[in-house]
Amino acid sequence: MRKKVFLTRTLHDFALKELKKKYQIEVHRGKIPIPQTKLRSKIKDIDGLICFPYDIINKETIDLAENLKAISTYSVGFDHIDTKYAKEKKIRVGYTPEVLTDATADLAFALLLDSLRRVSEGDRIIRDGKWRVIYGAHDYVGVDLQGKTLGILGLGRIGQTLAKRVKAFDMKIIYHNRNRISKSKEKSLGAKYVSFERLITQSDVISIHVPHTKETDKMFNIKVFKKMKNSSFLINTSRGKVVNEKDLVVALKKKIIAGAGLDVFEQEPIGKNHPLAKLQNVVLAPHIGSSTKETRAKMAEITVKNLNLAMNGKKPIYSVGY
Ligand code: DGY
Repeated sequence: MRKKVFLTRTLHDFALKELKKKYQIEVHRGKIPIPQTKLRSKIKDIDGLICFPYDIINKETIDLAENLKAISTYSVGFDHIDTKYAKEKKIRVGYTPEVLTDATADLAFALLLDSLRRVSEGDRIIRDGKWRVIYGAHDYVGVDLQGKTLGILGLGRIGQTLAKRVKAFDMKIIYHNRNRISKSKEKSLGAKYVSFERLITQSDVISIHVPHTKETDKMFNIKVFKKMKNSSFLINTSRGKVVNEKDLVVALKKKIIAGAGLDVFEQEPIGKNHPLAKLQNVVLAPHIGSSTKETRAKMAEITVKNLNLAMNGKKPIYSVGY
């Protein structure tokens, strides 16, 4: 009897083909995200699960699984999985870092550049038929990147890659991390370690690259926004819940900060009536940090490899601690 693998959403054909060679697979084709009731009914007798960052795999769901050996998430983030409990239950968890580092850093940079130079806002002005006179001294002025300070919260893989990108644009780089990186790495990136307080008060742009945890939950709130420069911008490609969105809307409306570029939100997807979508000084992206053809294919490849290893009792290539 072949082992059973359930996918909460389809993946590339090559990945499904690979999985079909070894397992009896079932792909959820209905509503996305898969309703919890369906996920819970499926998890009972499967051996492997491939999931996405919006599928909540908590203790209650894990407790229903009788044979589960492997959870392989098609994402670098794993805050949707109770990984500690999975480990207790001897279920291995795989995820997909590294392959999406460049794509996500690129998107953070795209949001930064767009926010400071108001590209998307200009696009809306033209599409709304509001571009009537050309080239005034104060028309649609943005701000220079050169000489400005980028504060990176979380100088891990993606944060470091963003640092390399912005160095070419002559920005100064400061960062805050739980652990300071080596002096030689700081030197090669041209990044200076500062306290969180300094990061928020000195940066012209802050880019968030920390996972969502109890400690980082709503870390950016009105208190923090009030300490940031009025001229500063916030870029978030990590997780929406690191920011208190209601407070961010207030900060953007009242010009407590100048603007934001966001790829992630507290609840996704957001629609055109979301308060953020009503503001001009924010660039919005539909959670596309890793969304390039090449990267998404590499993520599928790793997701399958991680699953295969875990199904065979081995540690996934990228494993959450076990
Ligand atoms: C992830 O992989 O967790 C990212 O959010 C995708 O962009």
